Order: sequence, then structure tokens, then C-alpha cells
Amino acid sequence: MIFHVLTIFPEFFEGPFAYGVVKRAKDAGVLEIRIHDLRNWTNDRHRTVDDRPFGGAEGMVLKCEPIFSAVETIWPQRRTDQKVILLSPQGRLFDQAMANRLKQNAELLLICGRYEGVDERVAEHLADEEVSIGNYVLSGGELAAAVVIDTVARLLPGVLGNEASSAFESFQEGGHGEGLLDCPQWTRPAEFRGWKAPEVLLNGNHGEIAKFRRSAAREKTAKLRPDLLE
Ligand code: ADE
Repeated sequence: MIFHVLTIFPEFFEGPFAYGVVKRAKDAGVLEIRIHDLRNWTNDRHRTVDDRPFGGAEGMVLKCEPIFSAVETIWPQRRTDQKVILLSPQGRLFDQAMANRLKQNAELLLICGRYEGVDERVAEHLADEEVSIGNYVLSGGELAAAVVIDTVARLLPGVLGNEASSAFESFQEGGHGEGLLDCPQWTRPAEFRGWKAPEVLLNGNHGEIAKFRRSAAREKTAKLRPDLLE
């Protein structure tokens, strides 16, 4: 899968994809991440990407021309498995189900919003989807793009060492997770400062362990995320 990112801060992405699962997937050729500097599609001496909002308001708005030019250069024709996603706090909320849907595409192009907003014609006439990663306002879409790429990347076949492992974690429907939180885990030592790991996990009875994990997952979900049980 190929991820494109359109941003005015290309250096921002040197960090997030240089470690762990995503790095290994890149090295293995399972995915490719191409960072595009929006200023490459400006025509003036100052490489202007923003302007004052019509009607007057605080701050600056990202202009539509460089964004349209960039997307149309990257994809002169767009196939149905090449999707443009605008990251913004006004978007539809990103979740595991959306990640599973997005991973079906061959390529995604993520546009990172900035300043007080992006000219609305980008959302209306260029982006397939406007996506938010949560009900809070970031200073730009870069962190959001990194979150979306990380989440989708680890669902791709061949990215996680153990193919089964993404099917059994929090929010993933179909595994024993059933859309609940992941079950809590313990590792050695079996006792730390008087706090013991649950005995049942140490006794090697796989039937009992599976039963314990299901009920622990349900208990934790009821306590921290009762909304998931509805
Ligand atoms: N840009 C600013 N805030 C955002 C958010 N919550 N999600 C996606 N992009 C954003």
C-alpha cells in the first residue's frame, strides 16, 4: 500500500515512521510512504500556501490551488482505490472500523490541514473523506495523518509478525475482542510489591485462561468504556 502525505512540514514525518512496526513494514516493501511538500505547488516568490479568510475572521486559511495542483500531479487520473483524505477537526471520527475500510485501498493521500482551516472547496470537490482523529483541536493535521497511517499500516497483511494478533485486540470486531477492550495482561514477576498476577493465568489450563480473559475484558470495558457495551 502507498501512503502519500501532503504537508507544509515535510520534516515532521522523519520521526513517526522511523521506528517499530511501520519502519519494518517499509523496509520489507509492504508499504511505502511518500511525503510531499505543499509549497512545491505554489507559483509565487514567497511560496504562499495560505491567505486571509473571506468575510474576515482570525487567522489564515490554506488556499485551494496548491492543494488541487498537488493532488492532480500525484494522481493525474484517480482510480477508485486511490482515496484523498482531508484531516480536520470537522471530519468524521476515525476508528478501527474506518481503518479496516481504508486498508482496502491501494493508495491513500492524506492532506494535512493547518492554520484556521482549509478552503472548503477541498472538502467539497477534492477529498473523498474528511476525517478527524478525535474531539479536540490539534495545531495541524500532521499528527492526525501519522495516527491514521500507523493504524492502517499495522492491519496490512505481513506487517505484524503474528498475523492473528491484530484480530484479537481492543476494538477489532470478530476476534475474541468482539469490539470490546483488549483483556489485561501480566508478565513476570508473578508477584510485585505484594500485587499478584491472577493465579489462573499461571496454571496452564487453556480453557480456564480463555474464560478468564473474556470476563476480564468485559469487566474492564464496563469500568472504562461502558459505551462500547451498548
Ligand atoms: N487537525 C486539527 N485537529 C484535528 C483532529 N482532531 N483530527 C484531524 N485533523 C485535525
